Amino acid sequence: MATVTETAAPERGTRTAADHFRAAARVLVGGVSGSARVNPALDHPLLAAGGDGARLIATDGRRYLDFHTGYGATILGHNHPAVRAAIEQALDMGVVLGPETVYQQRLAARLVELIPCAEQVRFANSGSEATMAAVRLARAHTGRAKLLKFEGHFHGLHEHVLYSTHPPARPPAPGQLLPPTIDSGGIPEAFADLVVVVPWNDLAAVERAFAEHGDDLAAVIMEPINYNAGCLVADSDYLRAVRRITAAHGTVLIFDEVLSGFRTGVSCGQGYYGVTPDVALLGKAVANGVPLAVIAGRRAIMETLSPLGSAAHSGTYSGHLFGVLAALATLDELTAPDFYDGPTGIVAHADRFYGGLYDIFARHGIPCRVQGLGPRFGLYFGLDPDRPVNVYQDIVGHDSALLKRFVRACFAEGVYFHTYDVVVGHHGFSAAHGSAGLDEALERIDAACGGL
Ligand SMILES: Cc1ncc(COP(=O)(O)O)c(C=O)c1O
Repeated sequence: MATVTETAAPERGTRTAADHFRAAARVLVGGVSGSARVNPALDHPLLAAGGDGARLIATDGRRYLDFHTGYGATILGHNHPAVRAAIEQALDMGVVLGPETVYQQRLAARLVELIPCAEQVRFANSGSEATMAAVRLARAHTGRAKLLKFEGHFHGLHEHVLYSTHPPARPPAPGQLLPPTIDSGGIPEAFADLVVVVPWNDLAAVERAFAEHGDDLAAVIMEPINYNAGCLVADSDYLRAVRRITAAHGTVLIFDEVLSGFRTGVSCGQGYYGVTPDVALLGKAVANGVPLAVIAGRRAIMETLSPLGSAAHSGTYSGHLFGVLAALATLDELTAPDFYDGPTGIVAHADRFYGGLYDIFARHGIPCRVQGLGPRFGLYFGLDPDRPVNVYQDIVGHDSALLKRFVRACFAEGVYFHTYDVVVGHHGFSAAHGSAGLDEALERIDAACGGL
């Protein structure tokens, strides 16, 4: 059981979350430490004092069943004792030592054992840093410059990948390349010239991209399970075909598993589909939210990284003990028997929970498609509950206003969902929710829907 310390709740009894947000805006840009902290469904961010298993604890003492789970990082739940012990071990050793310890090798060996594409591993600290390194690695390895990515897939916030993550509705264009939309000010057009965008689950478009740009394509990068658009799952035949085409062209196939990693099993999305990329990126759940990212891949490609190859990669915090020891502890939990499978596994919980949500929405006459795989899911308000969604354009017309009303109603009932304004976003639960937590959540969500 977590304890919420006095220092974790400095404002208790003195300021409301809304007051705090107004005060914060004087010194923090937009009142937050990252733009995604804003929850546009609320008039202020949740002001947390701590987390305890499946719950977030606000500074006013209210507890919320958490379906945000630290942007998908806390797969074991908040303040997990094994992860806490790992951090304490790192503290006992010293915060930043500089040299290698035995633990980086130990974690690398564990990942090589678990992740199908992993023959060698390099550590980074965030998903964005990992995708940035992987793009450079692919470019250095192939001597080519262009990158193919998919509409609606998100790979972090840097110049190489921040395109077409949430573009507007467009007329259907099967088999076509899409003009990249640049998702941030400050990115020069010249960077976008190096990016080819195609719709997800559209093999003809990938074939066309290779017909037009194949000799220049250093890498194809994808979320094998497109959780950043809720939960858009690939067709396995399509992924196998992309694997074949990239291999034939000598293009590096990168699975960005920062969000899909460890959702369907310890072999991640690649094990789920039975399609092995050249390089995979892990983050978030790999260390249950302690900052760590992993670049893992085939030896022949990974050796392009310095000091063996020409692609520079290092950092003060690469392989930081907090993340490395926390990942070792997390992997022990994830590889325990029945973590995923069996009647008490996270996959069985997921199926029951999504069925429960479907029934609640049906009972209250709320149009919402629930689509999930493992413990992460999308809620597509305004869409036909019985019609699967497969590509970003299927969901672009979702009812974002109804989503926000739902999130506010759930908040009042003690259930926290995060939203990202017009972006559909993604939700998830942790192992700590268990069947009791998920049943309680369904009851609370049912009550929230009654008032919508
Ligand atoms: C698939 C994917 N890649 C990369 C990132 C960036 O990770 P980070 O926020 O750790 O930089 C994210 C973050 O949400 C992600 O979902």
